[in-house]
Amino acid sequence: MSERIGIIGVGQTSFHRIRLAKSLREMCFDAYSEALDDSNLAPEDIDGLIVCYTEEYDKQRGPWSPIAEYLGLTPKPVVGVSNYCASSTMGVRVGWAMIKSGLHDVVAVIGYQKMTELSGAEVQEKMIRGGDLMWETPFGIGMPHVYACFANRHMHEFGTTEEQLAMVRVKNSEYGSLNEKAAFREKVTVEKVMKSPVIAWPLKLLDCTANADGASCVILAKEEIAKKVSDTPIWIKGIGSSSETNSMGARESFVTTGSWRAAEQAYKMAGVSPKDIDVAEVHDCFTIAEIMAYEDLGFCKKGEGGKFIEEGESYIGGKIPVNVDGGLLCKGHPVGATGGSQIRTITLQLRGEGYKIHPKCEVEGAEIGLVHNVGGTGHVSNVIILGR
Ligand SMILES: CC(C)(COP(=O)(O)OP(=O)(O)OC[C@H]1O[C@@H](n2cnc3c(N)ncnc32)[C@H](O)[C@@H]1OP(=O)(O)O)[C@@H](O)C(=O)NCCC(=O)NCCS
Repeated sequence: MSERIGIIGVGQTSFHRIRLAKSLREMCFDAYSEALDDSNLAPEDIDGLIVCYTEEYDKQRGPWSPIAEYLGLTPKPVVGVSNYCASSTMGVRVGWAMIKSGLHDVVAVIGYQKMTELSGAEVQEKMIRGGDLMWETPFGIGMPHVYACFANRHMHEFGTTEEQLAMVRVKNSEYGSLNEKAAFREKVTVEKVMKSPVIAWPLKLLDCTANADGASCVILAKEEIAKKVSDTPIWIKGIGSSSETNSMGARESFVTTGSWRAAEQAYKMAGVSPKDIDVAEVHDCFTIAEIMAYEDLGFCKKGEGGKFIEEGESYIGGKIPVNVDGGLLCKGHPVGATGGSQIRTITLQLRGEGYKIHPKCEVEGAEIGLVHNVGGTGHVSNVIILGR
């Protein structure tokens, strides 16, 4: 049994909203080639492929098969993993277990999504069918509406303000404007966020992430190989996963996505606590989601997320820099690819290569990083702690 599992290669395409810029296979090939080059491995060294995605946004059924063929990886084992917006961190969890079991030595985890073939309304219609199709979805409860409920409850219980929500976008846009792989590069002000059209009060357009196309790739290897091919393998120190009720009506609380359970597992396995985290990527599909993530991950107490952003604690130079690549809000959110993109960012930061995103995005001396990726409205939560 391998002791530690290392990340030895990462790659990501630009996330974009340009229809048919690249086919699904070409996008995956681009992310895979970048990760393979990064890993110093030859294609024949990859002994398993995991393809992560969410169904129905493009027409390909069983996408793992054409992707494996296009990457030249047949006849090696290939697995499809679909887990809402947390698909590619779940793929990393599956790959981790495949290597840990001794069945595989090196596994490539590709995440992709091609969403521009559909309108925003068509995407939402498919997305919300992941909720309770019998009792809730028919009433038009979409993603922005549920997160708006979270925001309303947070404002009611803790006095969180619309301006504090907007401050999350302002921070992420400061870094996103520097990230050439981000779909939205405009640096915005609180005033601009507040004046953008209301989507589901209190969330405005700029409080929301946007659908996009893109692919990411993470190459995992057992310890012996990771040490041989890389001077800077990044180790998976802790990996946690949890689920919440499908129906929103059955939730115990509307001020959490339930990610704290996954976080507890990951901290325990890694033997670290929130104060040890030097840099984090959290699932900011809406501004309120980032505020709840600060709290669920223990960066601050429940109810103090608004204050945490207002006091600049999640900027570089603050207590824990968060989403200093622009986050989902600015990069865009090609759902199956997002977790892999978050892992790429943290891997680069821990290697001392944050400058590859942009020199002003680098968190100098970072040794322990955290990735938080949520599927649906908390239906799935994955937390992964990485370290040098
Ligand atoms: C917010 C949302 C409803 C807007 O959808 P829409 O009204 O169909 O908007 P469109 O995609 O047609 O874009 C309209 C304009 O707003 C811009 N826009 C959309 N989302 C944006 C964002 N997050 N940031 C900045 N600009 C954005 C578009 O670029 C476009 O600008 P243009 O007219 O100058 O080209 C949609 O982006 C959405 O559903 N987001 C959430 C996705 C989601 O739930 N993901 C899963 C979360 S876990």
